[in-house]
Amino acid sequence: MHLSRRADRLAESATGRAARKAAELRAAGRTIIDWSAGQPDFASPEVAVEAARRALAEGFTRYTAAAGTPDLRRALAAHYAERHGAPWTIDQVMVTVGGKAALFELMMTLIDEGDSAVIPSPCWVTFPEQVRFAGGRPILVPTAAADGFAIHAQPVIDAIEPETRLVLLNSPCNPTGGIIAARDLRRIVEHCAERGIVVLSDETYERFLFDGREHASAGALAAEFPDTVVVVGSFSKTYAMTGWRIGFALASAPLIAKVTAVQSHATSNATSFAMRGAEAALTGADDDVERMLAAFARRRDLLVRGLERLPGVSCPKPAGAFYAFPHVAECYRPGRQGSLEFAEALLEDAGVAIVPGLAFGADDHVRISFACSSEELEAGLERLAEALRP
Ligand SMILES: Cc1ncc(COP(=O)(O)O)c(C=O)c1O
Repeated sequence: MHLSRRADRLAESATGRAARKAAELRAAGRTIIDWSAGQPDFASPEVAVEAARRALAEGFTRYTAAAGTPDLRRALAAHYAERHGAPWTIDQVMVTVGGKAALFELMMTLIDEGDSAVIPSPCWVTFPEQVRFAGGRPILVPTAAADGFAIHAQPVIDAIEPETRLVLLNSPCNPTGGIIAARDLRRIVEHCAERGIVVLSDETYERFLFDGREHASAGALAAEFPDTVVVVGSFSKTYAMTGWRIGFALASAPLIAKVTAVQSHATSNATSFAMRGAEAALTGADDDVERMLAAFARRRDLLVRGLERLPGVSCPKPAGAFYAFPHVAECYRPGRQGSLEFAEALLEDAGVAIVPGLAFGADDHVRISFACSSEELEAGLERLAEALRP
């Protein structure tokens, strides 16, 4: 069968593969602790469920406008104005089938064959793959464990080349939990504005910051740099609504119009009644979000404390998101050499599913999601301690 060169360039998502292997072992009767999934274990907010149920009962089951319902787009614009002082109006907002589709459609709109995109690394597996799929070349800019994988402006600026169309930031970062400070973000946006480069800020984890840290949103710079700033967000993590598949993009009106045209030929609108649920979550689920965030903070502390006790493992506390990204290379030995073999051995021997750091460009690390219960974290830590016993 002939496959397109575009598809040939694409690999299966490593996070998806880890989750699939865990599910296979589970189906075979093993008790598996799944630390691989990037999805909260909480139920979606009741207000969202109720609003979606009502929408279905009312027959709100037809196509909507490709960019989404005006109500949800208006609510998103109001949300960003209130939280970050962003100037976006309804024609600068589109709703997508998850944040992933927003990113995909933006890449297809902004990148030509031979273009490049600068991405701080380690980074989410999907970013480089989407850039390649669009015909572009990812330029990965290393961030360092020593300062919690913070994203600094200068190395990002230094990596930009004449072919660069896009700087892709993700703060807080999946997989490292690293963040960008407001001054670094401003420097990057100012520099990109001068050179006509888009700063695409994936703020999927914007609510997941710990120890009183504040999120630096590119939305706060959109009034000053309207043609440079693009923000992508999602309902998946903040509201525990992964399966609803609702994300969004905020950008200049001409860009949103173009990306909406792309979407109109790809997915059309996101699911109508799911958008009603998302709108209810955005306007009425703050208490649920606060409750979940408090649980995430406790889980982070529990996990990091446990990991730090393990021989050969070092794990600084992530500043944000819900992943620990420990350095585990000192645990490598024959048969467990590198993060791929290490993750495989842990799954086989200890029944704990984690994602190899290699998938994110960091083979000395593994990614552990703490979007699971404290009991699962405790049980997983016990299994890990047993598996790593010298
Ligand atoms: C950094 C980042 N961006 C975007 C997404 C997309 O999430 P969704 O498509 O569920 O909105 C994810 C999900 O794992 C993510 O980790």
